[in-house]
Amino acid sequence: MNFCNYTFVCMTKCIKLSRLKVFGIFVLLLLIMGSSWTALYSLKHRELKTLLPPDMCSVTRQSSQDRKPRMRIMCIILTSGKALEKMNAVNKTWSKRCDKKLFMYSSAVKSPVSPYTIHLPVLESRGHLTGKVRKTLEHIYHQCRDSFDWILKSDDDTYVIIENLRHLLSDKDPQKAAYLGYRLNAFGDNFLHLPNGYMSGGAGYVLSSRALHDVVHKGFKTGACKEVGGEEDAEMGKCLDASGVPMLSTLAEDGKETFHPQDLHTHLTLNNDTVLREPPRQERNNGPWGESCCSRYPVSFHWVKPNEMYMFEYLIYNISVHRVNTERPNAG
Ligand SMILES: *[C@@H]1O[C@H](CO)[C@@H](O)[C@H](O)[C@H]1NC(C)=O
Ligand SMILES: *[C@@H]1O[C@H](CO)[C@@H](O)[C@H](O)[C@H]1NC(C)=O
Ligand SMILES: *[C@@H]1O[C@H](CO)[C@@H](O)[C@H](O)[C@H]1NC(C)=O
Repeated sequence: MNFCNYTFVCMTKCIKLSRLKVFGIFVLLLLIMGSSWTALYSLKHRELKTLLPPDMCSVTRQSSQDRKPRMRIMCIILTSGKALEKMNAVNKTWSKRCDKKLFMYSSAVKSPVSPYTIHLPVLESRGHLTGKVRKTLEHIYHQCRDSFDWILKSDDDTYVIIENLRHLLSDKDPQKAAYLGYRLNAFGDNFLHLPNGYMSGGAGYVLSSRALHDVVHKGFKTGACKEVGGEEDAEMGKCLDASGVPMLSTLAEDGKETFHPQDLHTHLTLNNDTVLREPPRQERNNGPWGESCCSRYPVSFHWVKPNEMYMFEYLIYNISVHRVNTERPNAG
């Protein structure tokens, strides 16, 4: 029912009332939007403040033996709530030698909680791997950027010999932007954007602390870096390229590759001809395959199954070989 049509006085009152109503609704809307903005902001803020495990940033800088500051390596490992066996094998083997480690999980699924896990607000699927890595890097930057010299990103089927990684990095300056790993050629659409290629995600790649700074302040602030979709390693490659982070060589002093994107037996047994017949050829370093494939100082291997992680561990760290000749073959 509308009484306003009866008299002019009544009409103006009604108009006043509806103006008041409109104003009220406007104020109410402002309040709602304001509070949801604050909620969103504080969520983002809280997320950035509290997602990392509590003692993630406490890393000893001083070495006990000599006066040189110790190199601090943070390992971030892509895994999923479905891959507990893989995560356990990584947890019990090579990752013990990182200064800190972080298993990247999606908070959307049930996954273990420990001092070494980060639960990220992304979905658990291949299309969200980029988001996992990107968000983790943002958290590390905002909370712990001064606690690490290098960040190693690996998968849960990567085996890393951390001592050899330390050696490879020992003549490099973490205060300079650097991106290291097994370099692949981009293909398809990515090729246009990545003429220099990118580092294989499965072989693991390494960022200096300056590279972390640059990617957070440049790449992540532009549209150059996807958050969802694409392949994690190629997307990060694009993002680092857009951030002006240079790629450094991972060849050891013996001139051979130290990061391995295939499983070890493939590296050891494929010959150049077989490799060349397998399209698309992605390897950029173009090193030899087969008998002379790999460095004496390898850093990483990919496609390592959980039970093989324990084998690698034993073969690398526990066994000794009785040599008749004290000199090692090819020593030099
Ligand atoms: C890894 O191992 C440690 C013990 O060294 C344990 O506390 C932790 O729960 C394990 N799992 C994860 C995901 O960190
Ligand atoms: C395989 O290729 C590498 C590098 O391209 C070369 O050094 C090596 O001699 C080749 N090996 C054979 C058996 O042709
Ligand atoms: C390997 O060596 C470590 C450290 O010395 C030891 O704790 C472990 O039991 C050894 N593992 C095997 C299978 O011998």
